[in-house]
Amino acid sequence: MKHNEHFSTIGANVPRQDGWEKVTGKARYIGDIRTPGAWIGGTLRSPVARGRLRGIRKDDAFDWSKVVCLTAKDLPGPNSVAMVRDDLPILAADEIRFATQPLAIVAAPDPGTLAEALQRLHADIEELPPVLTMEDSFSLKGIVYPPDNIIMEYRIESGDADKGLSTSDDIIEGAYRTGYQEHIYLETQGVVANPLRDGGIEVFGSMQCPYYVHNALCKGLALPPEKVIVRQTVTGGAFGGKEDYPSVLALHAALLALKSGHPVRWIHDRTEDILCSTKRHPSLIRHRTGVMRDGTLVAADIDILLDGGAYTTMSIVVLQRAALHATGGYRFPNARIRARAVATNTPPNGAFRGFGVPQSIFAIERQMDAIAMKLGMDPLDIRLSNAMNEGDIFPFGQRLRQGFPVRDILKRAATLSGYREKRHKYQNDCGVKRKGIGLALGVHGSGFTGSGEQKIAGTANVRWNRDSTVDVLVSSVEMGQGASTVLPMIASEALGIPVSRIRHPLPDTSEVPNSGPTVASRTTMYVGRMVADACRDLLEKLKAYAIAGTDLTVFKMSVRDGCISDDSNNVLGTIDEIAQRFLNEKEELFGVSSFHTEYAAQWDDASFRGEAYKAYGWIATVSEVEVDQRTCEIVPLETTCVVDAGVAVHPVLAEGQVEGGALQALGWSYLEDLPCEQGKYASGHLNSYLIPTSQDAPKFTVDFIHNPSPDGPYGAKGLGELPMDAGAPSLASAVECATGAHPTAIPITGEVLYTLLNEGAGKRR
Ligand code: MOS
Repeated sequence: MKHNEHFSTIGANVPRQDGWEKVTGKARYIGDIRTPGAWIGGTLRSPVARGRLRGIRKDDAFDWSKVVCLTAKDLPGPNSVAMVRDDLPILAADEIRFATQPLAIVAAPDPGTLAEALQRLHADIEELPPVLTMEDSFSLKGIVYPPDNIIMEYRIESGDADKGLSTSDDIIEGAYRTGYQEHIYLETQGVVANPLRDGGIEVFGSMQCPYYVHNALCKGLALPPEKVIVRQTVTGGAFGGKEDYPSVLALHAALLALKSGHPVRWIHDRTEDILCSTKRHPSLIRHRTGVMRDGTLVAADIDILLDGGAYTTMSIVVLQRAALHATGGYRFPNARIRARAVATNTPPNGAFRGFGVPQSIFAIERQMDAIAMKLGMDPLDIRLSNAMNEGDIFPFGQRLRQGFPVRDILKRAATLSGYREKRHKYQNDCGVKRKGIGLALGVHGSGFTGSGEQKIAGTANVRWNRDSTVDVLVSSVEMGQGASTVLPMIASEALGIPVSRIRHPLPDTSEVPNSGPTVASRTTMYVGRMVADACRDLLEKLKAYAIAGTDLTVFKMSVRDGCISDDSNNVLGTIDEIAQRFLNEKEELFGVSSFHTEYAAQWDDASFRGEAYKAYGWIATVSEVEVDQRTCEIVPLETTCVVDAGVAVHPVLAEGQVEGGALQALGWSYLEDLPCEQGKYASGHLNSYLIPTSQDAPKFTVDFIHNPSPDGPYGAKGLGELPMDAGAPSLASAVECATGAHPTAIPITGEVLYTLLNEGAGKRR
């Protein structure tokens, strides 16, 4: 996409602000930061998936004065990690609900002493029969989560689903499963907790949501907000994995730091990180679709089950998103959606890029392929004839307002990838290695669901410094996605000064306001908009200052080309000069803004209806694969993504987001296999949990449709999660095209595909 001529910075591929430090190795991640005198932390974890903790015995042969050790009995505040619902204990008290659950934590001056202390702690556990699968949880084989194992349930209805089903020509049924996914951020989880002289605590580390950590620390340590400081350090990837888990690790480190009086340093190795941190929710989604012979969709009956694991963590909000995206990008005059998150005795599942949507899109997109097959239509045609359009209504009652070029996106993806010709050609392939091509449509609501943005009511500040640089002060973090470049670009556009003078410092809760967590594809759209507003507020202050003592009014004053002019277009001075004068006279120059009610979605929590999101991003993904019919190996060859994210603020970074997200989705669909056996993940390292490498990446073609949204800054909508949504079903469809198998579950590993091909007809392994 070429640089947009209406803007000076938006649409330009400026150098990424964190790029230089990262490529030269100057960036200091938590592991690079020296903490002289720091102790290190470690956890005694439950070996069993379910049990009763009778007690923890300390071996007398060990000198316990060398370390500090804490159990549930020693906590200063309530025993819960503050999240959506505060049910996750900081340390297990008497009930153990999952294997690896923390039972006790220890800090020691060195690794040898720590390891010995952990070995000398003996947990006395009465083991109980665990509930390990969604089916067992659902059929109440045991109660994990009182009273009925249901963490949360949502229902959405529109029209009359039963009548729609009974009056349609055909009813097509399908059941779709998706598996765990581990984030494998480059940098593992890590924090340092530093006790402060005033009895407070400072925690710094790798995280997405400094204020989530701040909140969890205040509550768990029973400290007032001003005694808790949280600072993000340079973060090597997160993908949702650093949304919830850092609160747990920060609490553990802070408790030990306060108890020992030493800083406590705690960085997970990869194995502990994989075995103990949260994962993407596995899903089982059933569809019954009523269709007419011509392919018109009449009714959807959808049942969603997500495996929440042993505690709530993020399951309620993940479930909301899964339910709201259940019908994907298609028009259903009648729909009934029932969504439940069930509890099992497995480690809690949490946030992962896409947040429930990839599971729902996998199911609806596979179902669309099944319908196409049954009716003898091409998968593209059935999508084209049922894709939502302006004026269409989602089952939760939201009408699509502005131009949503959904069909154009599908058509463009088909054209760019040569879909029709290849689909035709590959269906007649007959060698050992056969190619296939498949297409999927994804949709993703930008920002928090429903009233979420209003509830968090974020705030953003910009500060004009004496050296004429500007700081964007927000709690949103750079985690590799580009926020430290995109937010300054937005500020640059709003202030009319070069982006090179604008910085986004690493957030520190004692310095920056709460602009909300770095999640939900909200940073560019919502925080970006607040940053633009804060810049406008700063300019208003300068305007008022420039005419102070005169009889001029700010009304009709203008800011153009770096200058402020009065209502008759007389230049009063450059922004820089006026700002300097302002700062010479006053202490500081800030622009501030907060979430305006006019940005809020009209959503009703009680009925779970209304405007679920102010804006939606759309994507069509076409994947081409080659499948070896003997070894059942799948090789992705080409992936084409056509994206409507409103306006790409920084096209190169946006393209990187799309390629990275699509590759992560492909990995989830055929490579990333994480069985959970007896409640424990079967793999704790990267030689058995495989993720795509650059060698596995297909050739990408990424194209952005320019479709400015009125709800984001300079037309930008959310982008981060969108590319995760359609990759998996596009690959499954391509495998189907290449082999004739009908995969309904992912990952489609070689073993799974072998079984499908040898047992015929889409059976699950
Ligand atoms: Mo995200 S998965 O909303 O951190």
